Amino acid sequence: MSIFLDCFDPAAIERLSHLGVVSGVTTNPNLISRETEPFNLRERIEKICAAVSGPVAVETTASEAAAIVAQGREFYSWNPSQIVIKVPVSMAGYEAIAQFERKHSIPTIATCIMTFAQGYAAALAGAHYLAVFWGRMREAVSSPEEAVILLRERIESEKLRCSILAASIRGPHHAVEALSAGAHIVTVSPQVLESLLKHPGTDETVARFAEDWRCARERGLMS
Ligand code: G3P
Repeated sequence: MSIFLDCFDPAAIERLSHLGVVSGVTTNPNLISRETEPFNLRERIEKICAAVSGPVAVETTASEAAAIVAQGREFYSWNPSQIVIKVPVSMAGYEAIAQFERKHSIPTIATCIMTFAQGYAAALAGAHYLAVFWGRMREAVSSPEEAVILLRERIESEKLRCSILAASIRGPHHAVEALSAGAHIVTVSPQVLESLLKHPGTDETVARFAEDWRCARERGLMS
């Protein structure tokens, strides 16, 4: 199991990578659209690659299979040792995933998955990762748990070479639910990662221990 960061900010990725718990990054057009200053996409992706040791996912936005493959190959050429191409599941998307994986040996993330069937089809098309949109499925009143449990069963019984990546994580509870249901990876925002790692009880206990330690020293108990 591992944790990726769902983030387009190299500084935040750099800061959180030092914790030793982050092993990859996912980006998407929505995160990109939140930028306020103009930027060069290639330079930004290269900075993100330098800030994390592990896969960095870049999403294609074309709609025809040939155009998706052309766009993805361009992105992949920027850093073949880290970049993974995200392809939204669609008829053209499945075709592109099969080409990336089988013709060009380019690893893919099948993304925007909202059902077991979409995920299973992407696994059969050869995708390395299946990005199941946990939060959006919840918001659409469908069961992400069911989809992930069934996908995990298929992956193991058919020995499919792919990992379930739970995405669209709205809070630490979703991350825990997804990992409990069998997701191999969760991708979370920096805020959700920090919430996952912190607990007020821990802070209180550590403060109490520090006080106990100080008192023990003050009373000359400990040399
Ligand atoms: O990066 C993929 C996914 O996590 C985005 O989810 O629902 O926050 O747009 P969402």
